[in-house]
Amino acid sequence: MLELFYKRRSIRKFTDKPIEAAKLERIMQAALLAPSSKSSYPCEFVIVDQKEINEKLSVCKPLGAGFLKNAACSIVVAGDADKSDVWIEDCAIAATFIQLQAEKEGLGTCWIQIREREYKDEQSAESYIHEILNMPANIKILAIIAIGYKDGEKAGRDETFLKKEKIHMNTF
Ligand SMILES: Cc1cc2nc3c(=O)[nH]c(=O)nc-3n(C[C@H](O)[C@H](O)[C@H](O)COP(=O)(O)O)c2cc1C
Repeated sequence: MLELFYKRRSIRKFTDKPIEAAKLERIMQAALLAPSSKSSYPCEFVIVDQKEINEKLSVCKPLGAGFLKNAACSIVVAGDADKSDVWIEDCAIAATFIQLQAEKEGLGTCWIQIREREYKDEQSAESYIHEILNMPANIKILAIIAIGYKDGEKAGRDETFLKKEKIHMNTF
């Protein structure tokens, strides 16, 4: 597990190679196995493998999403706010499980933050995406995870990266 954690980096350059159905299936198994507060399971996932739709999603905010137009696939991670008051936490865990299983599958991912982000002219990134994907208003969007085969390797981390001063024992 730690080996995978050291290796994982955010990947924003992808090749055109499509993702095999079996890999995507295992990635979604990971998403659905994520823990959930009070077993409420508020998370909803939209898998987007159509290039035209990912192109539209890539302009959902002015910065930090443009590379989505070149991703083979993306997964919109959203939560039903009527089902859980902590849908954000649940979705963040599911999104992380997606990223880690994708890494295990030899794929690269990058988190694209949507919650609290603006599209333009005071329209939220979320409402822009709701329109494109025909999503109901109670399904709140946390993030989009871009996924694809890595176009080039990024160096993993080693122990020198660890900020051990952030760990406190017993008292802060
Ligand atoms: C909550 C969250 C939001 C993020 N939002 C974006 C984003 O909108 N666009 C982007 O390119 N990267 C985004 N990232 C990726 C971070 O930039 C990245 O994780 C960080 O630079 C550390 O690099 P690493 O993932 O390669 O270790 C986000 C990561 C997290 C955890």
